[in-house]
Amino acid sequence: LQHLLSLDGLPREVLLQILDMAEPFLEVTEREVKKVPLLRGKSVFNLFFENSTRTRTTFEIAAKRLSADVINLNVSTSSTTKGESLLDTIDNLCAMNADMFVVRHASSGAPFLIARHLRERGLEHVHVVNAGDGRYAHPTQGLLDMYTIRHYKKDFSRLTVAIVGDVLHSRVARSEIAALTTLGVGELRVIGPKTLLPVGLEQFGARVFHDLRQGLRDVDVVMMLRLQNERMKGALLPSKEEYHQRFGLTPEKLALAKPDAIVMHPGPLNRGIEIDSSVADGPRSVILPQVTFGIAVRMAVMSLLAGQGAQA
Ligand code: CP
Repeated sequence: LQHLLSLDGLPREVLLQILDMAEPFLEVTEREVKKVPLLRGKSVFNLFFENSTRTRTTFEIAAKRLSADVINLNVSTSSTTKGESLLDTIDNLCAMNADMFVVRHASSGAPFLIARHLRERGLEHVHVVNAGDGRYAHPTQGLLDMYTIRHYKKDFSRLTVAIVGDVLHSRVARSEIAALTTLGVGELRVIGPKTLLPVGLEQFGARVFHDLRQGLRDVDVVMMLRLQNERMKGALLPSKEEYHQRFGLTPEKLALAKPDAIVMHPGPLNRGIEIDSSVADGPRSVILPQVTFGIAVRMAVMSLLAGQGAQA
């Protein structure tokens, strides 16, 4: 694997290989000395053109635990503010011997553009990891979510998984649907208001619900999404109060799922809108373990791309 740009079309065996590779890295994160030398001598550039708390930080931790040198480009003080283009920025960082770019960008396709540019420049040894592009893909979030489900629930084929909320604007949902489909989930449900669900979800084998109570009945996994206001621009939307009343996850609605159902959320949370605090902080929530698993999964992805012997 040269780049990780999307989970669409990623073979099942590669997906499972990443999840399997992450297992021992989770143990590394619990050791007193948390470092392994797999990326020693490599330079990983974090390029976050859009804000992030979890993804940026866990990529940095993951790269450091692999012994890489990590450079966080501060976009707001970089020369992009003087009009320097994305690809000129990439060329200059390549001149500093970059080995990997971890890229978040508000524009869908930006990491693909960088990967193509590197190929055209003959820089095939430089890797790109998509850390979230527009509303298109967030592959490492999709992978850490699959890791979380497997950790708590084991066999995907026996599970009913519900994705709830603003699927239309969600790169996370797109990556989750791709991964769940590849892994052969038993039943995939997508729940949300008509205005926030894309058309054609049925072609991925999803059952579509516009009523949260109906959709949650007997599910094993509830994956909540936030309203992505920054990507909506003039969409016809319910008010926050109406949204909470119809699609907010409350203890009473969660009681319709299986008694051992887990609740996931990629973060950031909008408490009191898509999820109540009593659910987010409750016994069925695995929201914070998702963040911890994200370090191990990102270590696995970076090792697979650029670790010693990775391209042998
Ligand atoms: N889940 C996620 O992408 O969170 P951040 O935006 O904080 O990275």
